[in-house]
Amino acid sequence: MVYSDYFNPEAETMSVEQLRELQLERLQHTVRHCMNSAFYRDKFQELGITPDDIRTLDDVRKLPFTSKDDLREHYPFGLACVSLKDCVRLHSSSGTTGNPTVVLHTQKDLDEWANAVARCLWMVGSRPEDVFQNSAGYGMFTAGLGFQYGAEKVGMLTVPAAAGNTLRQIKFIRDFGTTVLHAIPSYASRINEVMLEQGIDPRRDTKLRVLCIGAEPHSEEQRQRIEQQLGVKAYNSYGISEMMGPGVAFECPEQNGLHIWEDYFIVEIIDPVTLEPKPDGELGELVLTTINREGMPLLRYRTRDLTRILPGDCPCGRHHKRLDRLQGRSDDMIILKGVNIFPIQIEKILLKFKELSTDYFITLETKEVGDVMTIEVEISQMFTDDYSRLQALEREITRQLKDEILITPKVRIVPKGTLATSDEKKAVRVKDMRKLF
Ligand code: COA
Ligand code: ZN
Repeated sequence: MVYSDYFNPEAETMSVEQLRELQLERLQHTVRHCMNSAFYRDKFQELGITPDDIRTLDDVRKLPFTSKDDLREHYPFGLACVSLKDCVRLHSSSGTTGNPTVVLHTQKDLDEWANAVARCLWMVGSRPEDVFQNSAGYGMFTAGLGFQYGAEKVGMLTVPAAAGNTLRQIKFIRDFGTTVLHAIPSYASRINEVMLEQGIDPRRDTKLRVLCIGAEPHSEEQRQRIEQQLGVKAYNSYGISEMMGPGVAFECPEQNGLHIWEDYFIVEIIDPVTLEPKPDGELGELVLTTINREGMPLLRYRTRDLTRILPGDCPCGRHHKRLDRLQGRSDDMIILKGVNIFPIQIEKILLKFKELSTDYFITLETKEVGDVMTIEVEISQMFTDDYSRLQALEREITRQLKDEILITPKVRIVPKGTLATSDEKKAVRVKDMRKLF
């Protein structure tokens, strides 16, 4: 392995003109390739366009948007652009009440994904002599295998610790000499707390020096607090499973915006209501077109993440645009413990129980053990004096919800009429009172 400041100097430092040329070439190829899916063929027909209409990069705006609902409606393989025998992996979102989303990958897609993550990890100073520990969930969570293959590509010794079991995480960090850790911000903070409880000073007693944080929105102050606590430099990571997972955009050592890899994606920021483009510097919804994917390319995918493009050049020498840290969502998705949850998933499970009324309320709070979701739900029949029956019902609701949303909520059955029922209040079903520290 040749050591350099860039993992892939050619791709990372190409000029803006070279980038735009490459993007156009890859966009045109992608659009032609999309004609292999009935989904995009139909969309093109509806809009009266053909791949030949894409002559400049601005022509991307002629293309149809793709939404999460499109993926759900064409579940599981409706957007595949290659035959299934050429695909080697799929990742799927949680949930069984509606159709989850599925993303298909060929071997080339997986190789490119690993290259993108390796590029990010190298950019923040990871090198083959580092030990990388990943506290993300494995399996269907893309941050598990995504970081795993990227870290291996860098050549690091990789510890696939997976989520939870904090004492074991800490033992690994100390015994294996972990230097680079991936954790969502609230879990990094939890690791720090448990270390302190154990009489371990992370700055003195571990070799941690780089922390990759993503998935949860957090402020600059929160980042600096984690850096101080753990004695690390913390870099913001942006990934979305529909685009592949981690590796989409990552902060460079300047820690001022996340470079989004424009040789993989065409980036647009739009007004989520009018769908009109927003100029650089203005907040809007991030829309991404994959231009380097075989199995399941996506055109103008509406991520629902709100951010802006930071204007100006970055001193690190990379010309790939920089995204500002995420400012929220243009839909009602909740991110809890690094897991994406839609209130409708909860509602659909609650509706299965005939004992419950349709009124429920979700509260998100930070407790000593971490972030907690409490779901209060009204009972429709009055058997509130039958305590053991209520407890059994709460347990069964919790079990079914855990299957659906992958985290364990706290379920509280409350008497009918307890929760606000005015139409105005019904619209607001989630109260987020979380704090990171
Ligand atoms: N990453 C790593 N560990 C996490 C975590 C996260 N995002 N969120 C919670 N944990 C830890 C908890 O601190 C707890 O640790 P402990 O074993 O030391 O007590 C343990 O995981 C279980 O959490 P708990 O809150 O009791 O259980 P749950 O059933 O509600 O949560 C998880 C289930 C943690 C398995 C689930 O939230 C998960 O898999 N999260 C990871 C998601 C992920 O990796 N997303 C991608 C991020 S980029
Ligand atoms: Zn930079």
